[in-house]
Amino acid sequence: MPDAQQAAVEAAIASHRGMPGALLPLLHAIQDIAGCIPEGAVPLIADGLNLSRAEVHGVITYYHDFRLHPAGARTVRICRAEACQARGSEALAAHAVNALSCNFHETTADGQVTLEAAYCLGHCSVGPNIAIGQRQYARVTPSRFDALMATTRGAS
Ligand code: FES
Repeated sequence: MPDAQQAAVEAAIASHRGMPGALLPLLHAIQDIAGCIPEGAVPLIADGLNLSRAEVHGVITYYHDFRLHPAGARTVRICRAEACQARGSEALAAHAVNALSCNFHETTADGQVTLEAAYCLGHCSVGPNIAIGQRQYARVTPSRFDALMATTRGAS
């Protein structure tokens, strides 16, 4: 972890120390600082909050909001909630994993795309829905997904 980042992480730990239920807000703060929870932060967090490293690591890996490595240039979220599932999102998800050669919560080898699941993007009647960054797309078929990925990856 670079020195400046470590100093910011230590400051975040200091500001959360003693707060009830500090771990989750602290992890969010550190992810905002570093773009992920760097491995080197785990022992600092554990010491700062008087927890074991395993406890800290367990929370990081339990909640999909947290990542141990920085995200790619773009985050693509595929809705896997019930209404989108009924409209074909699981087939789209399988296609995406194959097309990107990466699993959910992973980043493509070229660092361009991080694939994540979403659980309702708020447009259930026009699924399957995906989001690329903050922009949402409805009725996404596998071929439309491929076209969106070609544009997305070409734009970086
Ligand atoms: S279930 Fe996918 S947008 Fe609501």
